[in-house]
Formats: sequence, structure tokens, C-alpha cells
Amino acid sequence: MQKIGIGLLGLGTVGSGVVTALSCNRQEIRGKLKAELEIRRILVRDPGKARPVEVARDLLTTDFGQIAADPSIQIVVDAMGGTDPARQYILAALAKGKHVVTANKEVVAKYGREILAEAEKHGTGFCFEASVGGGIPVIRPLKESLAADKVEEVLGIINGTTNYILSKMASEGKEFNLTLQEAQEKGYAEPDPTNDVEGFDAAYKLAILTALAFGTPVKFEDISFEGIRRIAREDMAWASELGYVIKLVAAAKERESGLEAWVSPCLLPLEHPLAQVNDVFNGILIKGNLAGELLFTGRGAGGLPTASAVAADIMAVAQKVLTGQAAGPVCTCYRAKPVLPKEEVTGRYYLRVKVKKGDAALPVNNLLIQERIGALPVAKKFQQGKGGTLVYFTQPLQAGTASRAAAKLGMIPGVQEVSLLRLEGLPAAAAWAAATGK
Ligand code: NAP
Ligand code: HSE
Repeated sequence: MQKIGIGLLGLGTVGSGVVTALSCNRQEIRGKLKAELEIRRILVRDPGKARPVEVARDLLTTDFGQIAADPSIQIVVDAMGGTDPARQYILAALAKGKHVVTANKEVVAKYGREILAEAEKHGTGFCFEASVGGGIPVIRPLKESLAADKVEEVLGIINGTTNYILSKMASEGKEFNLTLQEAQEKGYAEPDPTNDVEGFDAAYKLAILTALAFGTPVKFEDISFEGIRRIAREDMAWASELGYVIKLVAAAKERESGLEAWVSPCLLPLEHPLAQVNDVFNGILIKGNLAGELLFTGRGAGGLPTASAVAADIMAVAQKVLTGQAAGPVCTCYRAKPVLPKEEVTGRYYLRVKVKKGDAALPVNNLLIQERIGALPVAKKFQQGKGGTLVYFTQPLQAGTASRAAAKLGMIPGVQEVSLLRLEGLPAAAAWAAATGK
């Protein structure tokens, strides 16, 4: 049986998962591919480090040149992270006529076009299913199964670490730092967890999804994003009382003037298909004009789920090695639709205003009227003779208008705290009833 050589870059969570996947599912892979996949070299920084998987010591190298120069390696798998030197290694491997598979969303989001052009030039494959959604097949469905659709909207929970943190904070009232540590121990977090918590990771993934869904080049810099650090326990509690959950949502929507593409903490009504996507699970809702709404859900992070996507990509490019076929054009962009500036994105908001005394409530309402902010009061809680909290849901507003109004509210004497969060989907029944009395 023909053997196909693999050079693996990285032996951390994902790299180890790939080693395990190729060995424990060897029979399935061999049977379906009619060839043997063999890891011939593994690039690491520290060959002396203890590893979660057993590999022959002589497979390890710290020199990428050994992989690039080895003609028996036809496929290079990047499970390394970061852009430097990952980008150079990927470009060098493609230039040597090797196919490349990556789990590295940062390198795809920032340099995807350059890399795809290089792959096309050499007729080699470049696959990145694992870069979005861990074990969930979503890249190939977007590129192939939904190729004839005009995608109207993509809405997703695409970062497992923050979803794990928010779910534990909501269901168990756990502290942020403790749940982050748990996510790191389980191998969900990025090498630098700031990338998860501050929204970078979800923004990389959204840039990839948006480009594929809307057939237009989208750069990471086009995506406006925010992480979950400012989510207060109080907002979690209010959301729950009103029939909502708070999730880190990534959204891309087609508008006449351009594309909306943002990552933001959001209130979702419990009835929303993404509201029950908890823990490390990801969910991606894609609305096509022919297929209608499709929900892709599964484990969004972790060694084995991610390795499932990497291994399937390896098998896809291995087919090209076996048939000697060139990989064909891989870029799916066919138009140039701009991404709208952050301030111009329109949506509803949840607005919580904490006041020190009851008499600060009047100037809050007055300012909302003065700023022409259509806001439904959905809840209020005051202690006798003391301050309290007012909660509103706004009508659709431009993001710039909403944040300017929130800043002005914060300057009213007696206003202690203002929290503004996006609201997706229709208002939950409980909040609607509270607002309208119906
Ligand atoms: P990780 O556990 O930190 O592993 C990174 C590996 O790459 C380590 O083995 C490290 O070597 C090696 N490495 C890093 N820089 C290197 C360099 N300059 N030269 C040689 N080796 C280098 O990271 P991970 O969680 O597996 O993530 C890897 C990639 O997969 C990232 O792009 C990440 O975004 C992506 N991803 C991760 C997940 C997940 O659930 N973790 C899911 C989907 C995608 P040493 O071990 O010797 O330090
Ligand atoms: N750190 C990422 C996450 C890994 O938590 O979703 C999967 O891309």
C-alpha cells in the first residue's frame, strides 16, 4: 500500500491530537484512503519536553529545514499557532510543492489570500477546516455544499473557551479566573488565552467565515470585536431574569451598503437556537437563500475534535497526492463587498443603568428622550430610600449612537454604572410582557 509522508509542525494540544487520531483510527483512514499516512517528522521548540503522546524521539526536530527538504514528506500540517514563523513555513512548504493543512486561524485570517495565491501558483492544496469550530465541519460545507446559495447571515458562538467560561459563570456562578483556568487545563484555550478572552480568536474565525460565506476578501482588521471581560455578574443575573443568556456572538450579515461583521457579547433569548449551545460547544447558524437556516454544532476546541477536522483535511489532500492531480483553484472570492465601519452597524441593545438615588431615574429617562433613543423599560429594582437599577431594551440603533448615549448617561450625577450590551433575536416573551404589559 502506498505511503504518504506527513511533517507535523507542533506537538501541543492539537499536534498530539493529530498523532492520536492517525494512530487510533488507522484502520478507518487506511480503508477509506487506500493508502497509509505516516508522520515522518515533528517540529517542536523543546524536544526534551514531556508530551501527552508517545512519539519516537528521532521524529522530533527543531529545524523546519529538515521537513522542507525531505521529498518523502508530501503534506505539512501546521498545529503550531501564531503567524511568525508559521506563515513562512507554510509558504515555504507550498513552494516546495507540498500540500498544507492548518488549524491556525490567525495565519489564515491575516495571510489567507497570500497563502491561497501561493497554493494556486504551485497547484498544491491548502486546507483549514480545523481553523473554525474545532471538530465541526463548517468550512467545507460553506465552500462546497452551500456553493450555490447566496448566504444572507452567519451567526455563531465560535470560541469554546469563552463559551465554557460564560456557561460556568451562568450555571454555577463561578468566578471568571477559575473557569479560565479550567478551560486552559482542558486544552481549549489558545497558547495565549488573552486571544480567547479579548475576542481575537473569534474575530480571526469570523474573518474566515465571512470571506467564505459572502465570497469576498475580508481581512482580520475589518472585524470589530470585543471580548467578555466586562460582563458583570449583575448583567448575567438580569439576563436570566428576563429570559436571556449572555454569549460571545460572532455575526456577519449582508446589508445593501456593505457587510456587518462583528464579535460582541450579546443577550440571546432562551428560544434562540444558539442560546442552548453551552460549555466548549460551538454553534454556527448559516442562513442561505436556498437552503434556509442551518445550524452546525459540536465541540469547538480540544485535541481530538480538532484532530478530526485536521485528519479529514489530510485525507482530502492525500487524495491529490495519490492521483497526482493539482489541487485546483482554492480561493472562493468572486466580488469585493466592503465591511461596514463598526459605528454604522445597527442593532438592538440591552441598557442597564445603576443609580445611587431614585431621583436620578428622571434625568436618565430625559436624556434617552433628548438623544432620541427609543428605549423600552423592561425592569427596575429600587430599595426604599436608596438607589437601584433601571433596565431598558432599545429599538434598533447604530452602534455609534448607542455608545455615545451610554457615555452621556454615565456622566449624569447620581449614575453609578452603565452597561450596554447587544441584543440579538426577538425580545424574549418575559421581557416583552414586562415592557408592554401584554
Ligand atoms: P499548543 O498546545 O501551545 O502547541 C503548540 C505547539 O507548537 C507546541 O508543541 C510547540 O512546541 C510548537 N511550537 C510553537 N511555536 C513553535 C516554533 N516557533 N517552532 C517550533 N515549534 C513551535 O497549541 P495548540 O492549542 O495545540 O494550538 C495549535 C494551533 O491550533 C493554534 O493555531 C490554535 O489556534 C489552533 N487550534 C487550537 C485548538 C485547541 O483546542 N487547542 C483548536 C483549534 C485550533 P513545544 O511543545 O516544544 O513548546
Ligand atoms: N481557543 C480556541 C477556542 C480553540 O477556545 O475556541 C479552538 O479554535
